[in-house]
Amino acid sequence: MWTKENITDQSGKTIIVTGANTGVGFETAFAFYEKGAHVILAGRDLNKVEEAIERIRKLKGNGSLEVGIIDLASLKSVKRFAESFIIKHKQLNLLINNGGVMIPPASKTVEGFELQFGVNFLGHFALTGFLFPLLEKTMGSRIITVSSLAYLRGVIDFGNLKSEKSYDPMREYCQSKLADIIFSIELQRRLSANQKQTVSIAAQPGANKTELTRHMSSEALAEGIERVGTLMDPWQGALPSLYAATSTEATGGKLYGPDKDGGYRGYPAEAIITANALDEVVAKKLWSFAEQATGVYFP
Ligand SMILES: NC(=O)c1ccc[n+]([C@@H]2O[C@H](COP(=O)([O-])OP(=O)(O)OC[C@H]3O[C@@H](n4cnc5c(N)ncnc54)[C@H](OP(=O)(O)O)[C@@H]3O)[C@@H](O)[C@H]2O)c1
Repeated sequence: MWTKENITDQSGKTIIVTGANTGVGFETAFAFYEKGAHVILAGRDLNKVEEAIERIRKLKGNGSLEVGIIDLASLKSVKRFAESFIIKHKQLNLLINNGGVMIPPASKTVEGFELQFGVNFLGHFALTGFLFPLLEKTMGSRIITVSSLAYLRGVIDFGNLKSEKSYDPMREYCQSKLADIIFSIELQRRLSANQKQTVSIAAQPGANKTELTRHMSSEALAEGIERVGTLMDPWQGALPSLYAATSTEATGGKLYGPDKDGGYRGYPAEAIITANALDEVVAKKLWSFAEQATGVYFP
């Protein structure tokens, strides 16, 4: 059983966690702080991020913490965050693409993309691309992208990424989480093909008690819990990301998630990746789409 106790000393490392003010991202950031890293808690709301930093400081740990302001629904904001990060920092050991939104009422990013596709995938695609020069020159760097079991039901509908045809909240969430895992795997293909030392790994946190369900009615939430069973506490949901980020056993192009109950609960283990996430034709199409949509081209 792999737990936080297995994480080695992380001092000297610089780590960005998006969506770090609450839930799985908060616990991920806290674990790195406990192990001595310099952690940038990246979120869109300054008050929430500062409050999260205060909460972590009251817990045990000997790392250091920094506020990062990023709205993943705005490419301008993503660029601003990345540019100021690059001016301030000489290294980036770990980028944890964790922030996310699930089944909001129909809404769009600043650039007009369906919100979940935009925040969960496009924002992180752009962020990773902007920060790539720093990742590339930091030895042992890893890019962890947080997907979800929802990817299993995902299909990329290239004709509806701006909700041109219709909006189905759960269908779009599944699509965005499929895009996340396709991105993580395709990035690893490209890193390997170009002999880069940076690796890209996907994680899925299982079923956790977090604010991700904020757009669900209490009836829908109760039905969801009935279907998936007991929800884990977010510290446990953070373990797959932490494993992917720190374990010497974790490998580029793989997916790690909880090992029990079909991936809903348990401790980190490698998970089987289904065919919809391994389709290289879709991956190349999605990559080109994302480059054009964001204007970010990986070097
Ligand atoms: N909880 C689960 O059971 C579960 C299962 C599978 C996958 N996941 C994935 O795990 C990740 C973390 O989710 P969670 O469960 O911890 O949810 P959460 O408690 O709702 O946390 C989501 C985080 O993402 C941030 N975020 C949302 N929209 C953003 C934006 N436009 N710009 C920047 N940050 C934004 C939120 O910030 P605000 O607080 O400001 O909104 C929050 O910090 C997500 O990628 C989610 O899809 C979770």
